[in-house]
Amino acid sequence: MSAARTRFDPVRRLRGAIAPPPDKSISHRAALLGAMNAEPVRIRNYLEAADTASTLHAVRAVGAIVESQPDELVIRGGGLRGAQEADGPIDVGNAGTLMRLLPGWLAGHEGSEWRLDGDASIRRRPVDRIAEPLRMMGAQIEATDGRLPPFTVRGARLGGLDYELPVPSAQVKSCVLLAGLMAFGEVAVTEPRPSRDHTERMLRRAGVDVTRTRVGDRGARVAVHNVDELELGDIRIPGDPSSAAFLVAAGLLVSGSRLVLEDVGVNWTRTGFLRIVQRMGGVIAADFEEPTAELPAEEPVTEIDVRSGPLVGTVVEPHEVPLAIDELPLVALLGCFAEGETVVHEAAELRVKESDRIEAVVGGLRGLGAEIEATPDGFVVTGTGSLRGGTIDAGGDHRMAMLGAVAGLASDEGVDVIGMDAAAVSYPGFAEDIAALA
Ligand code: S3P
Repeated sequence: MSAARTRFDPVRRLRGAIAPPPDKSISHRAALLGAMNAEPVRIRNYLEAADTASTLHAVRAVGAIVESQPDELVIRGGGLRGAQEADGPIDVGNAGTLMRLLPGWLAGHEGSEWRLDGDASIRRRPVDRIAEPLRMMGAQIEATDGRLPPFTVRGARLGGLDYELPVPSAQVKSCVLLAGLMAFGEVAVTEPRPSRDHTERMLRRAGVDVTRTRVGDRGARVAVHNVDELELGDIRIPGDPSSAAFLVAAGLLVSGSRLVLEDVGVNWTRTGFLRIVQRMGGVIAADFEEPTAELPAEEPVTEIDVRSGPLVGTVVEPHEVPLAIDELPLVALLGCFAEGETVVHEAAELRVKESDRIEAVVGGLRGLGAEIEATPDGFVVTGTGSLRGGTIDAGGDHRMAMLGAVAGLASDEGVDVIGMDAAAVSYPGFAEDIAALA
């Protein structure tokens, strides 16, 4: 990533209607399940960003044909058991979701082998969390220092598994479920707290009998069985609530703002941030999906109407953490402007994201004048009602780059973001979108 500085000056207000870019999580899954599908799959509104380009590159590397047509992508895969060995290591770039989901599919290919690698950030992100359950099912995974990329996946005839997730992670859950499609015996994943369920929904759409049963107060056990083929119909990807969250934060913090965000995905496992914001007093009007016992097959979308206004601090509950995991840096930023304290805890997972997001957020916002302290598993922000501004280094992390930009718009003196180009991982047109609303 280049070290160029991009300046974000305070703006008087933000106004307008805009659709955030297509959902990154759902795009990754659509490309992967498209490649696993027996018949060609047409995907409309696929995210054109660095991370999801990595997934297209990866599915091509294992034998799928990806055709880019004006309004859609067509993926012609080789079927569920048809992944081919690649010519060399598969480069997952910066994409943690790709790195954790693809091995689940590959693991069921007895006698075949793949090597996966990625950029400097990916090489710091753990893969032991997927290696463990895949090994329990019979696959062989060899990782660098036992836990990091580059790593090798050797497929096997997989056995069943009843796995309790040691970390609340949709990526690990999804990896195990994909492996379960080719395993002999039931494969089940129990998550103590709900995490995003896009894989489960898309598998249901593909005709897989996915069952979700409640465990304890909030947890769930998700189970799948061996299937012959996926039958995924055509797919349209909704707008990404995690990308929309940056626009929501900007609309809330820049006084006099009103933004209408169109076509935002509001699957309830992704709306944790919006609900936290509402509790902080943020004025957001939207129809959210309510959690249901039944597992839906669809991804709901809605329009979100945001107006600026005063905020009060809040404590983010542990069960909310997986539902807002990628937006927690924004909760810290909102906390700077809120009255009182904002606390995030039991969120140690933030330390193994695209960067150590506890260090990055605390160091970054402090540099802009915030009163914020790191804790081992989160942070505590003391709201002061404003933020001075200054310089923030994105450190190659797309969400840190966009956090810096939003901070600049709402700050007293403006913010220089070093490495704004990192935003292209999930939201290539971010700076332009912001400029169009100012
Ligand atoms: C993702 C799940 C989350 C999230 C990531 C995308 C996904 O990671 O942070 O940006 O698409 O499944 P974990 O499931 O590891 O928490």
